[in-house]
Amino acid sequence: MSTPSPKPLAGKFAALCGLPALPLAGRSPNKLYDDDCYALWNKYAMPENIRRHSKLVAHIAENLAELALQRHVALSVDDVRASALLHDLGKMYSLRFGGAHAAIGAAWVVAETHNYAVAQGVMHHVYWPWEIVADATCCQLPMLVLYADKRARHDQCVTLDERFDDLKVRYGKNEEAVRSIDASLAQMKAVEAALMTFLGWEGLDAYTFTCRGLVD
Ligand SMILES: [Fe+2]
Repeated sequence: MSTPSPKPLAGKFAALCGLPALPLAGRSPNKLYDDDCYALWNKYAMPENIRRHSKLVAHIAENLAELALQRHVALSVDDVRASALLHDLGKMYSLRFGGAHAAIGAAWVVAETHNYAVAQGVMHHVYWPWEIVADATCCQLPMLVLYADKRARHDQCVTLDERFDDLKVRYGKNEEAVRSIDASLAQMKAVEAALMTFLGWEGLDAYTFTCRGLVD
């Protein structure tokens, strides 16, 4: 008995066949190169300043990931870099139309790439809802993207305090907003302390990741 062939898409779904696809032919569908991320930046109209910021976040996150690998943490440096490059993909949309940019960006990354690890980093780059412990778990992909983002003020590498001072000026419009920013700073200090302990890196909090000249 022969296997029935799948029915062709009909009606309004037939139009979906014309959507642009990323150039993934000939390699793992889950591996994302910088050019794939740049294609998504273009598709979702990411402005230049967010592209520069994202490149810096990727540089910082990648540095941390390489050190984590030396500590035998199981993670993909490529995924960490791609996730950092894409972490603010939903930012412009949320500024124009509302919604949580982390969730919007993560949904787009899942739909476009099917790489759930990369999407997870996008989803959690604002807040980590679970416990922070100074073991290998503090070097998970989302944690590295989360921390790297908080060390990048626009396209400049800064300390957590400098980054959060800037957030307060821009977003601390009322008491509740200031409380929320303070809570986020406290969480990031906990992440930083965990990373310093686990990675054995005492000067991490002030390290500049040799970023001069990185962002063109
Ligand atoms: Fe960011």
